Amino acid sequence: MKNFLKLSSILILATACYNPPPEGQRLYDFHCAACHGQQGEGLKSLYPALAGTDYLAENWDQLSCIIVNGIDGPILVNGREYNQKMYGVEGLSESDIANIINYISRNIMETPRAFVSPGVVSESLKSCNPERD
Ligand code: HEC
Repeated sequence: MKNFLKLSSILILATACYNPPPEGQRLYDFHCAACHGQQGEGLKSLYPALAGTDYLAENWDQLSCIIVNGIDGPILVNGREYNQKMYGVEGLSESDIANIINYISRNIMETPRAFVSPGVVSESLKSCNPERD
């Protein structure tokens, strides 16, 4: 019994000390950071940056579509042409997508954008440009 109590208090302490990163950050790190960088800095001429770029600032409304469908084709990001294929990320729920977008908005964009709910994501997914798929 004594040991059990000891063990459970250790477990409780451990749980209290473990402070997991917010969901949006966890999802961004897992699904996006390998290519676009932890801070959205991109990877040279291979992967475009998200931070401080004209492309994302101008196409912010398209972010749900980009996450789900990817992008294929020449795009100009801060004057540099990228012409590769980004595959859409599979298996994300609308709330996962909203979490990623809100994370990017608050931590990567210079000026945070309006908070996005799963409902907003679902609406914007209806307007995806099929040519980009
Ligand atoms: C395997 C690498 C890879 C992963 C993972 C990836 N992307 Fe991309 N992304 C690319 C490439 C390559 C392009 C450029 C596509 C082109 O040339 O048309 C791109 C372009 C973009 C763009 C438009 C250009 C820009 O820089 O603003 C956005 C926005 C974007 N990705 C967001 C994301 C987000 C958000 C995630 C995670 C959910 C993600 N990407 C995951 C490779 C990746």
